[in-house]
Amino acid sequence: MSETAKIIIENKTFEFPVVVGTENEKAIDTSKLRDTTGYVTYDDGYGNTASCESSITFIDGETGILRYRGYDIQDLAVQSNFIESAYLVIYGELPTVQQLQNFRHLILRNAAIHQGMFSFFEAFPNNSHPMAILSAMLNSLGCYYPEMATNNRQRDLEQLDNAATILLSKVRTLAAMSYRMKHGLPFIHPKPELPYCSNFLHMMFSEPYVDYKFNPVIDRALNLILLLHADHEQNCSTSTVRMVASGGANLFASASAGVCALWGPAHGGANMAVIHMLEEIHKAGDDGSSFVAAAKSGDKTKRLMGFGHRVYKNYDPRAKILKKTCAEVLNTLGVSDPLLDIALKLEEIATHDEYFLARKLYPNVDFYSGIIMRAIGIPVDMFTVMFAIGRMPGWIGHWRELATSKSPIHRPRQIYIGSPRREYVPIDKR
Ligand code: CMC
Repeated sequence: MSETAKIIIENKTFEFPVVVGTENEKAIDTSKLRDTTGYVTYDDGYGNTASCESSITFIDGETGILRYRGYDIQDLAVQSNFIESAYLVIYGELPTVQQLQNFRHLILRNAAIHQGMFSFFEAFPNNSHPMAILSAMLNSLGCYYPEMATNNRQRDLEQLDNAATILLSKVRTLAAMSYRMKHGLPFIHPKPELPYCSNFLHMMFSEPYVDYKFNPVIDRALNLILLLHADHEQNCSTSTVRMVASGGANLFASASAGVCALWGPAHGGANMAVIHMLEEIHKAGDDGSSFVAAAKSGDKTKRLMGFGHRVYKNYDPRAKILKKTCAEVLNTLGVSDPLLDIALKLEEIATHDEYFLARKLYPNVDFYSGIIMRAIGIPVDMFTVMFAIGRMPGWIGHWRELATSKSPIHRPRQIYIGSPRREYVPIDKR
């Protein structure tokens, strides 16, 4: 007989099924708790709540394991690339030669932006944040492809191959366009012969008649950053995508909501915050030790950015890979970045400090990714946009998983702690 959990409430015992995942992680299925007991579960921030069953990503935060569809992130980082891993995350299996060719073809074919969207860029103020632009643009894609954004599950699913490749391809074009607009530079059109990351670098940095000079180490590093961000199970933005999708919203609207959720400094915005922190430390002439001392105060505004994770209580495996890549990129470019020296010093201090050890705070993915992107020439305010480009396969994969499941509209409960009922008093009598 399968395992059950007993909950005793008001001296009565209730039994609930235990759900067991592939890797033996266990959860108590409390979906009928309210019906049988009148109680709901309370878990502020969902830190201890499995909101769904998913077969996309497995994380063991205690030991620092991350797998996409069963494949270790280290193996994918060495042997795969962003596009192949994107296919894996979305569809569940590594592609055959033919499947990968079709997928690449659709991505290439969808790189350009509808002429009508160019005028949107003119309307945004020059100092607009690229995340705001990206979210607005991704949502508006649904207006250009209404047959893929019907908000009818079945019809949207039938169009998924097209909608997915439009999003994967255009998110990169839109990101590059927002950068060019901000810097008053003419837009550069994608080149059909270029692979994914090279095409992005071309749209970002080529000039009319002067092509960007490609470097395989940079291309590989960018591929790696995107691949390592491709999915991370039920994080804030992915849960948002699933939440929006659960109401029946189309893929473009759901991904656009994901961008908004990603923006905050505790989530995707942390990669920007890391560079700001390192610059601040550098400007102050600190070697990092004063900053670490302040970070231990418990003051949230002084946290060591790029450290700590809700799930990882060990070194984030993505940070390990990027630390190595970071050194390779700086070597290749012949750049010596004082921020890398500070980052290494911070890591050295924090990973030997009782405060950080006791709380299991280790570098996360954002700690080294920013230094790599800075070396490539990507401005700091584009860092979270890069995260969004990388996370797109995960958002699409989760949208697909949700849309093909029997999951109902997501509608959590709450514990109301406001005023009890009171009489309305007209304004002249208050
Ligand atoms: N620096 C100093 N102290 C910290 C830090 C930090 N970066 N992170 C957590 N703590 C302390 C915190 O003060 C608390 O101490 P105490 O128990 O004495 O009150 C304890 O560690 C637990 O912190 P928490 O806020 O309850 O942990 P959480 O799981 O809710 O927060 C986090 C996770 C990522 C929001 C947090 O570690 C943080 O703010 N880190 C810095 C921002 C950052 O790098 N975010 C990127 C996350 S990775 C990208 C992604 O997947 O989105």
